[in-house]
Amino acid sequence: MLDTSAENQRRHALHPDQPVWLFGYGSLIYKADFPFLARRPASIDGWARRFWQGSHDHRGTPDHPGRVVTLIRAPGDRCAGMAYQVTPDVFQHLDHREKNGYLRVTTSLTFADGQQQPGLVYLATADNAAFLGEASEEQIARHIAASHGPSGSNADYLLQLARALRNLCESDAHVFAIEASLLNTAMPARAAPAK
Ligand code: SIN
Repeated sequence: MLDTSAENQRRHALHPDQPVWLFGYGSLIYKADFPFLARRPASIDGWARRFWQGSHDHRGTPDHPGRVVTLIRAPGDRCAGMAYQVTPDVFQHLDHREKNGYLRVTTSLTFADGQQQPGLVYLATADNAAFLGEASEEQIARHIAASHGPSGSNADYLLQLARALRNLCESDAHVFAIEASLLNTAMPARAAPAK
């Protein structure tokens, strides 16, 4: 299976005593299973979130990969998420968690008060072996409804991400359209009121 963790460990010369800002835009918004020094809502400019990356290890399997988010270049767009200030040793865990095609790249984060800081973000580009690429939001919703993996259902990944964005008072037309499609057609039982 694809494993970018060794390449990520080699990529940046991080000083052990120098904390780093990490920008999370997918599961890293709502699942912080690592120690951090600070956490602040933030955004990055010129990028858009898309459910175009395959997940063979978390929300799907090698035979039936799920769909998770990556970023595509989108001049003029803003992608909202959560920034974590971490010590460099934390990347050991994060590189393993994000090993299915994501590489750490440098970026500039903007916090809610307009302050900017350099940081890192995990990016899965179109040339990685787990990339699934574009599909209609209805097709993506059906794919997500049918996918499950060791970290849970792909539907939960989508629904938790949509909820986390609402909690940040942010909207994302792509994520919310797939969520609506999943709840209304692909998985209508999830939308039904509890009996
Ligand atoms: C991220 O959350 O920043 C990367 C993608 C993911 O783990 O869902």
